[in-house]
Amino acid sequence: MSKNIKIVGVGSYLPEKILTNLDLQKTVDTSDEWIRTRTGIRERRIAREDQASSDLAVEAAKIALQKASLKPEEIDLILVATITPDMFFPSTACIVQDKLGAKNAAALDISAACSGFIYGLVVSHSLICQGQYKKVLLIAAETLSKITDWEDRSTCVLLGDGAGAVVLAPSDSGKEGLLASTLGAIGSAGNLLYLPGGGSRNPTTHQTVDKKLHYLKMQGNDLFKLAVKSLVEAAENVIQKAKIKPQDIDLFIPHQANIRIINASAKRIGIPMDRVYINVDRYGNTSAASIPIALDEALREGKIKKGDLILLDAFGGGLTWGACLLRW
Ligand code: ACO
Repeated sequence: MSKNIKIVGVGSYLPEKILTNLDLQKTVDTSDEWIRTRTGIRERRIAREDQASSDLAVEAAKIALQKASLKPEEIDLILVATITPDMFFPSTACIVQDKLGAKNAAALDISAACSGFIYGLVVSHSLICQGQYKKVLLIAAETLSKITDWEDRSTCVLLGDGAGAVVLAPSDSGKEGLLASTLGAIGSAGNLLYLPGGGSRNPTTHQTVDKKLHYLKMQGNDLFKLAVKSLVEAAENVIQKAKIKPQDIDLFIPHQANIRIINASAKRIGIPMDRVYINVDRYGNTSAASIPIALDEALREGKIKKGDLILLDAFGGGLTWGACLLRW
């Protein structure tokens, strides 16, 4: 049994190919101006044709393991948060386990869309504190470009590919770790963001493909309102649980879906924008991967110091939502 967890390694991987708004302007009826003002996105990364989510996951994981000075064999659990698994089964976590050579690890996927990393962090915290696992590799990896309808301007401008990973270990110092967390779901709003085809409800047929049911569908407007509401409520929940004030937070890392959602949430929570980490302009919405990618960048940019209070906050398909307050 341990008191808490610590993050001992962080890594991320972004595919090299950049797709700018100007590129998209040439293929769908949109404009750089519309995308920038409505979403804050300038460009996003796109995985190669031969790259699946596990390939991105492995690259991010290798960096996190290196930072943690751990060998893959020392990991005893791999969790992969993704809504773009390589295939239905085996799980992407099993594929990653094999590619890394992490032969002593159990492996499990988490499907909680953009909240997947937060869900994974809370699950890891419980399992580590119960003493079940000691070294957990939590990865979030997405290749949303593979489930995007590139003719649908209302979704294709928003999404991008990428992966982020952390290595988690027990901590008994009493100084660091997860101070408070909350998770939730609104299953009745699942129809606002979903992928209807290919599962047991609509098994793949020529008709499902003709109807484009294998692509992500989204009702952006309704989602926007619920996104702000759930981000604010989740943040307020953990702030209250940890008995801190919004002004105590050193860095707010929200899910990177839309700059307007981030601005509205930060304002309502009471966190000034100079304490909010933003990279949605460069990567768009990478679903579960967005928070660990941002965490890795913030660390590399020196924006996180020992002892800092970090708020992670996400919402996504499901709908799901969750927040974690971390003492670094
Ligand atoms: N280019 C130009 N015009 C567009 C585009 C585009 N790419 N997309 C939509 N429009 C048009 C619409 O057709 C509409 O035109 P109309 O008024 O003639 O009907 C107009 O722009 C306004 O559309 P809205 O949907 O009302 O625009 P809104 O300001 O709501 O912005 C957006 C849309 C960006 C999708 C916003 O609603 C949003 O960000 N929602 C949340 C999305 C989100 O966070 N999704 C991810 C969840 S996370 C996950 O799990 C993957």
